[in-house]
Amino acid sequence: MKILVLGSGAREHAIITALLAEQAGHDIIAAPGNAGIAADVPIIHLDPTNGSVVTGFALDNDIELVIIGPEAPLVAGVADKLRQRGIAVFGPGKAAAALEGSKTFAKRVMDEAGVPTGRAARCGTLAEAIAAIDEFGAPYVVKADGLAAGKGVLVTSARDEAIAHAEFWLHHGSVLVEEFLAGQEVSLFFLSDGHSVLPLSPAQDFKLLLDDDLGPNTGGMGAYSPLPWLPEGFVDEVAETIAIPTVRQLAAAQTPFIGLLYCGLILTEKGIRVIEFNARFGDPETQVVLPRLVTPLSGLLFAAATGGLGSVERPVFSSDVAVTVVLASEGYPETPITGRVITGLDNALAVPGVSIAHAATAVSNNDLVATGGRVLSVVATAPDFAQARERAYEALRAIHLEGAQFRTDIAARVVS
Ligand code: AMP
Ligand code: GLY
Repeated sequence: MKILVLGSGAREHAIITALLAEQAGHDIIAAPGNAGIAADVPIIHLDPTNGSVVTGFALDNDIELVIIGPEAPLVAGVADKLRQRGIAVFGPGKAAAALEGSKTFAKRVMDEAGVPTGRAARCGTLAEAIAAIDEFGAPYVVKADGLAAGKGVLVTSARDEAIAHAEFWLHHGSVLVEEFLAGQEVSLFFLSDGHSVLPLSPAQDFKLLLDDDLGPNTGGMGAYSPLPWLPEGFVDEVAETIAIPTVRQLAAAQTPFIGLLYCGLILTEKGIRVIEFNARFGDPETQVVLPRLVTPLSGLLFAAATGGLGSVERPVFSSDVAVTVVLASEGYPETPITGRVITGLDNALAVPGVSIAHAATAVSNNDLVATGGRVLSVVATAPDFAQARERAYEALRAIHLEGAQFRTDIAARVVS
């Protein structure tokens, strides 16, 4: 199949790695990609958020399937433009992508569909926000309503910080003040063709920068899959109470969700609650879910893109486990230092079971250099978590990037 993958992060590299692992002779092009992706498939430099440019390229090059990795092209309506021209695309249109792009919209869909989530108040003024902050009480949860590149959410016990966060984001639009939910977090992905859904394997993401869940919020510092501590029947319960009602609700509103429904969940004492939906594969969770996928990915994504998921079997996953640890630049997440040289990847890749998904890399004067905050996602698979962790950290120790940071406790809890 001739496939165009939009995006330039470790998630897109992991998607391409999974497509290549099928050994089905796919013709894959990435736009715009990164140095790691460019080592595997041809890349082209086009703006992935420009629907006309992407559609023109897809038509000119007989692309049979477009896979949209990041949220920005989805929210910009790139999938709509492609679909209007009859091109199969894995990724929701602009209206359904608002599930991620607008937290108010997501809450409304959940209310209408009867999906369990925390109570929330949408506030358009500081006075409303302060009233909601005091009504819900500490710990306070304040979120920007629109896309905020991972910086929109603050969870704090300090009332003045909660108010300052609300005040800052009110300059950009409305904010949501939410009930605090306590419990383990789970990321569970569903493929959706607009009507039917199929679950992938659960994963857990580590969102805070430092060990023991300390430090600032990030895009994600590591992940592991599966989650051996989940109660039996968890995936079916989420399918029945969350994914299917949400997809039905969007179909009934004539805005079908075709693509990946990312359910960000918390297991509270009172049951499963949605903290957020995303309209795309999660990063870094994808880097641990896809290496365990046995069913060919291209067939699943094509079936989702073309309305055929109802006749597809549930995807099968290997019993091997996967751990990924993100290597980030010095200064991440506030002000990452870029342009530094990365060495040692060959030694890291020599560790059994290890692969590396590139997130922010480029080649400059024959050197591999870091071009952003999250630089590499080091992935290790193994029969058990102790070995997967050993492999991932052995590989990390082989990589050199001045000032690099990574967490040392990814998946430690499942080993001890
Ligand atoms: P989000 O961007 O909505 O995923 O939020 C980022 C992180 O903030 C989540 O992964 C949670 O750890 C935390 N968070 C968000 N909403 C809540 C909530 N209502 N209660 C507790 N923690 C939350
Ligand atoms: N891992 C969090 C996200 O992809 O949004």
